[in-house]
Amino acid sequence: VPEQLPEEHADPDDLVSALPSAPRPKGLSSLRLYDGFWLPEWSVPVAVALQRRFEPRPDDVVVASFPKCGTTWVNALTFATMARRAHPAAGAGHPLLRLNPHQCVPFLEALFGSRRGEARLAALPSPRLMNTHMPLAMMPGGGGCKVVYVCREPKDMVVSLWHFHRRLHPELPLADVFEAVCGGAVGYGPVWDHIAGYWSASAARPDGVLFLRYEELLRDPAGHVRELARFVGLPFSGAEEDAGVVHDIVNLCSFGHLKTLEANKTGHMNAGLPIPRDALFRKGVAGDWVNHMTPEMARRLDDIVADKLHAAGLTF
Ligand code: A3P
Repeated sequence: VPEQLPEEHADPDDLVSALPSAPRPKGLSSLRLYDGFWLPEWSVPVAVALQRRFEPRPDDVVVASFPKCGTTWVNALTFATMARRAHPAAGAGHPLLRLNPHQCVPFLEALFGSRRGEARLAALPSPRLMNTHMPLAMMPGGGGCKVVYVCREPKDMVVSLWHFHRRLHPELPLADVFEAVCGGAVGYGPVWDHIAGYWSASAARPDGVLFLRYEELLRDPAGHVRELARFVGLPFSGAEEDAGVVHDIVNLCSFGHLKTLEANKTGHMNAGLPIPRDALFRKGVAGDWVNHMTPEMARRLDDIVADKLHAAGLTF
């Protein structure tokens, strides 16, 4: 069965339907195996478009992540850091006070879903900030820009993903999500290949790919905001440090603050994903898996992940 969509002009529907598929909970589009990754069906043509036509600029910044690993937080932190001259983090009119972080950072998958979206992206002034869940393999042009990748301890990712899907399907058993993740067939999975792709790129090009961990961000958000600012070429000046700008950004983007804002309490993810937006701000801690997984489940996923990431030299 083909895993590639080779012909530029072939009907995408025919090509997608020829790819191996895997089911997802009702209401979510099923998955297709494309280029080694299980992508939501709708996003396969997007991956093809990205591979063929994404033209990064050297000062572009792409926030990349596996779903439920801290995307919303890193989008907010990166946006607040890069936009701080136009929008001081302590300012009463900051966009993050009235918009969900995802509304502040264009989603590559949405833009590459149509030629009009691609044109919108091309028209954005530099430096552009974008977000994606795509594996690095889908962004061959990603080598030409800066990528901020955030990963998360996989057991916590599973629990977060389960809670997220439960907002649509309250009866969904954790075991279903767990098995899907362990087998690799989960949206944008296998998760270990997603992580390993960006990890290897960050080792090869530390100036091009910043590899962050959700748990370390929780431990030292200010230190990571400084690192982020240096990475995107906008280090904090002494005057900014003295004025407490780093802490203003951390506070603006903190879980406790974002969760209380109207923009994050109301509305839904988008038309295609009718999950309430407050699902993006559930608990915001590390280690919640102990409250949901059996020790056997934990051991099994730990073993799979350790085995798969051994070659890359990465541990959780
Ligand atoms: P939990 O479900 O464990 O609470 P994503 O943004 O990639 O969808 O990830 C969502 C996870 O990040 C959720 O985890 C959510 O609570 C957490 N999160 C969202 N905003 C956060 C913030 N500002 N600080 C810390 N965690 C945050």
